[in-house]
Order: sequence, then structure tokens, then C-alpha cells
Amino acid sequence: MKKQQIRLDYTHMLAETIGSQHGLTFEEIQKYQGQADDFQKTLKSDRETERIGFYNLPFHKKTARKVVGFVKDNYRKFDNFVVLGIGGSALGNIALLSSLKHPYYNFLGTKERNGYPRIFILDNIDPELVVQFLETINPRKTLFNVISKSGSTAETAAQFLIITDLLRKYLGKKFIRNLVITTDPEQGDLRAIAEEYGIDSFDIPPNVGGRFSVLTSVGLLTAGFANINISQLLKGAADMLKRCETPDLFKNPAYLNAVMHYLMDTEKRKNISVMMSYSSPLYYWADWYRQLWAESLGKNIDLQGKPVSVGQTPIKALGVTDQHSQVQLYTEGPNDKVFTFLTVEKYRKDVKLPKFKGSYSSLDYLTGNKLSELFDAEMRATEYALAQKERPSCRIIFPQIQEYTIGQCIMMYEIQTAFSGLLYNIDAFNQPGVEAGKRATYGLLGREGYKEEAKKIREQEKKRVSL
Ligand code: PA5
Repeated sequence: MKKQQIRLDYTHMLAETIGSQHGLTFEEIQKYQGQADDFQKTLKSDRETERIGFYNLPFHKKTARKVVGFVKDNYRKFDNFVVLGIGGSALGNIALLSSLKHPYYNFLGTKERNGYPRIFILDNIDPELVVQFLETINPRKTLFNVISKSGSTAETAAQFLIITDLLRKYLGKKFIRNLVITTDPEQGDLRAIAEEYGIDSFDIPPNVGGRFSVLTSVGLLTAGFANINISQLLKGAADMLKRCETPDLFKNPAYLNAVMHYLMDTEKRKNISVMMSYSSPLYYWADWYRQLWAESLGKNIDLQGKPVSVGQTPIKALGVTDQHSQVQLYTEGPNDKVFTFLTVEKYRKDVKLPKFKGSYSSLDYLTGNKLSELFDAEMRATEYALAQKERPSCRIIFPQIQEYTIGQCIMMYEIQTAFSGLLYNIDAFNQPGVEAGKRATYGLLGREGYKEEAKKIREQEKKRVSL
């Protein structure tokens, strides 16, 4: 399986390639070996005590079996499988689907989908989107998976209200047959509802945060209904965990990438991290990464309670599309960004460029090349153009996009994020900023216990100015 290992190429992060003002020396990186050794101990104890749960998810065989069994019993009964959820309850699902399924999966016929349902992730509450989406599906033939770790997020709760009301209209008391609830095993309103009504339910382990939850039933159920190979996904994650057992910075891709990004931010003033996918199927992993990186590392107090202001702003970009939109800024604007290219070695589909039958020799340079060769050349050209202007970049290389390599990528970035928490000396596993927003929303909608938040917002709003 070594051939199928994802790789971190950090050539263009180094001073010897892009110069010492913006690039890193091996010595600068090596100075953080002590922190890597410390983190290795923390990781080991967090795994053993289960304080942090995501490390052990690849070994939750019982969950995987339950998901597979549930899918087997149900996938032929429904035309559509719909996820209702937001943030960590949605982004991993979207990325799994877009990377591992046909780009126009929902347009394929049932036969081409091997009898599996179409999959939709409704991760917003724009009323036009929600109403128009519901107009396109037959609720009787749709299974809705309501995902919320807290069981109380207003957006998901609102979707739940709309869907249960709709299902009751169509199915009466049998509405529960078209519902699944994925939430905390004990806490929250959704868990109570699942129990009271006997709705099928799956657990999100309490020690796994929303943004780290794609390998819980949050992502696995969607994967199952999309006929994605769950065991290969988990194997990829398990193998990456194993690969990250060494604290040696130059052997551990998650640790090395964490230290390099930390140094880029704190020593080289690159407080923006652009993940630029030279792969359309991998593009949505950049969305997933944005949440993981932003919510985990964007903090205003350190572990000792001292005020700080840390966190790199993650940005997503798509190659080649954004070469014709963003790359002018990236190469010539402020040198405040570090780039990660997601790139693929062997494509699942490819096409050779034919000759134009006519007398236009200016197009001949393309003829005979594969489209993948042009794509690859464009990535290397962008990397080169950035390097010429002393802008650091690295590559995450996927030998091929498949469950096994996606599983590795998930675990690598989760470990990288956890280690970055130690480097920044902050809690990477909380999200007080997100929760403040949730409380304010509750207040504005008159939820009991949140009057104070609403009062403050209304005071602020009196000062609103506009033209
Ligand atoms: O990572 C997080 O904790 C958040 O972004 C959550 O995923 C998001 O707010 C949704 O929360 P919940 O799953 O509790 O509905």
C-alpha cells in the first residue's frame, strides 16, 4: 500500500528554494522537535484516556458495522438520502461525495448508481434554497438524516421542523420511517426526540468535535448511502495514524506541515493559508480544511487564560480556474500567504488532446498531450511563478483519489490541527466564537434564557448607518 501513500512535498517552503526571507531552513524547523516529542506524548495519552476521540475512530468497528447494516436494509427503499446539518455536520459529507463519486452523481440513473439513492446535503437555511429543494423531491421516497452534535443548532432545528411537518403531511404517523437522527448519545433535544418517537439514530461520540467528526457516523452514513467503501476510508485513516506515530518531524507529514505553517505564520508573516486544489473532486476538502483550521486555531485566549490573537486565515482556491482570478494577487500582491496545492498523480479519467483538422499550427503544442499533462503543467507553472516571487508553497500529492487516500488526508489534517493547537498554545478543540453566534441567534428569536444577548444586539443595531 506504500505506493498509495499521500505525500507532502515541501520543496518550495524552504529557504534554499525561495530565499531565506520567506523560506524556512531545516534548522528553523528542527528547533520544534521538542514540541513534537511533547505532542507525541499528549496524543498517546489522549488516545488511551479517550480525552480526544478522533484518533480512535478508524477502529470503531461497531459503528461501521451498524452503518453498513442500516444502509443494506434501507438503500433500496429510497430515491433520495438528504443530510440536514451544518458546519462539521455537513462539510465532510460534501467533500466525501464530491471526491469519491461522479461529479454529476445525482443526474445519473438509478441503474448507474447501482440502486443507491441520490444524495443531497442541505447545509444552509436560505428560504429559497430550502423551499425549492423540497419542490424537487418526493418526500415519501426520501430519507432525511438530521445531524447535529449539540442537538440544538438553530439552523438544523429549523430544517428538522420543516421536514417533520412535511413528512407528517405525507405519511401521518409513519413519518418516522423517513427520518434518521445522528447526535450525541445522551444529550440534547434531538436525542430525546429520537428516543420518544423511536426514530432510528446514530451516535456522535461526545469526545469528537463537530469538525473532527467526518469518520463518525456523521460521514459514514452518507458514505454508506453513496456506496463509498467505508473500510478503505477507515484503513487510510488508520494507516496515517500509524505513520504519524513517529515524533520525528522529518518523517511525520502532519507534524512537519504543522510546524511549517506555524513558522510561516509567526516568523514569516504569512497569516493566510491558501489551499488551492488542482483537482475539482478534491476542491471541497479545502472547504472542510477551512473549518478545521479556522475554528480550531482562531482563538483569543491561550491555555493559561492570557489574551492572545492567533490563527491563520484559511482560503480556498481552485486550479486552474482561479489562475484566471486570484493568481495575479497571489504572485504580486502582499507576500502574506502560504499555499498548499492538492494534486493528483493518476486520474480516474483522462483524455488525449486531438489535432485540429485545419491549418492552425498555433494549437499544435497541445495536440498529443493528455489533459492531465496540461493540468499538471499549469500547477507546476503556478508553483514556479509563486516561487519566483518568493512565495512559499507545498503540495499534498494523492497518488490517486480513492477511499484509502482520502482517509489518510483526513487523519493527517486532523493530527496537524491538533498539534498546531499545542504550537499556538491554545485549545484547538473548543469553539466559543461559534457558540456566541448561536446564543445570539437564540436570543433574537426569543428562545428562553437568551434575552440578554438579544438586548445587546438591539442596542448595537440602533447605531446602524446606511445610505
Ligand atoms: O465544529 C463545530 O463544533 C461546529 O462548526 C459545528 O459543527 C456546527 O456549529 C454544527 O453544530 P452541531 O453539529 O452541534 O449542530
